[in-house]
Amino acid sequence: MHIIETDSLTRRFGELTAVDSLDLGVGVGEVFGLLGPNGAGKTTVVKMLTTLLPPTSGRATVAGFDVQKHAAQVRAQIGYVPQLVSVDGTLTAYENLLIFAKIYGVPRSERQPRIAAALQFVGLEEASHRQVRTYSGGMMRRLEIALAILHRPRVLFLDEPTVGLDPLARQVVWQHLRLLREQYRMTIFLTTHFMDEADSLCDRVAIMNLGRIAALGTPEDLKASIGRPDATLDDVFAHYTGHDLDSGGNYREISRNRRTAARLG
Ligand SMILES: Nc1ncnc2c1ncn2[C@@H]1O[C@H](COP(=O)(O)OP(=O)(O)O)[C@@H](O)[C@H]1O
Ligand SMILES: [Mg+2]
Repeated sequence: MHIIETDSLTRRFGELTAVDSLDLGVGVGEVFGLLGPNGAGKTTVVKMLTTLLPPTSGRATVAGFDVQKHAAQVRAQIGYVPQLVSVDGTLTAYENLLIFAKIYGVPRSERQPRIAAALQFVGLEEASHRQVRTYSGGMMRRLEIALAILHRPRVLFLDEPTVGLDPLARQVVWQHLRLLREQYRMTIFLTTHFMDEADSLCDRVAIMNLGRIAALGTPEDLKASIGRPDATLDDVFAHYTGHDLDSGGNYREISRNRRTAARLG
């Protein structure tokens, strides 16, 4: 059984079809990557799967629940790390976690041990009583992961988890995501426009362009599929979409991402 399943999932914004008849199935414990340039439709997919945006047509289930008909049940099963910064910088990490524990209905007696475990998991115990605005981008991202796993979700969604991070901080985030899968068998659904991220982290990758899936498979299968043993995922992307990853997107999205990057960095 698939823990995430979509059936002709579609979202239009006026004339634009941002996500066009998406058919996907993600298995339990899988790390699945949606890879594509800015404007491909990745965030729109994540927003539909996390119940934040209704589909125009088609359907999706997460942990067996329909994202439209059973949104509350879906939310109880998922964690979500959005593309833009989601933590309150004026609070400490501990305070951010306490608020989330209350929002997500973590029982009072379990709040302290869960917060302590989450802080330890992402390596932020020492900094837990510092205001978050003093954190580096990598620390902030790790806090967002801690927040998203506090209620022990079965599926974790991360939208561009490493945008704006330096190479070392990116590696640390990757390590934590790998651990989540190993320790909790959590299913991880992430979006990225970094080829190396998809290659190093994901069991399977869907290459998305202009709202459609251009290719889907393990990084190895995708590389093999273009008949060049030395291929990279960049080559795969260019092969299936007809252009380089860098050429995607538009000014508005690039500038939005840059702003995020600057804020996180
Ligand atoms: N709320 C919205 N209103 C109108 N257009 C939108 C909205 N959200 C996204 N879009 C458009 O849908 C397309 C896909 O956007 P998005 O899902 O954010 O892509 P990605 O996350 O891959 O960069 C883009 O062309 C974007 O401009
Ligand atoms: Mg996006």
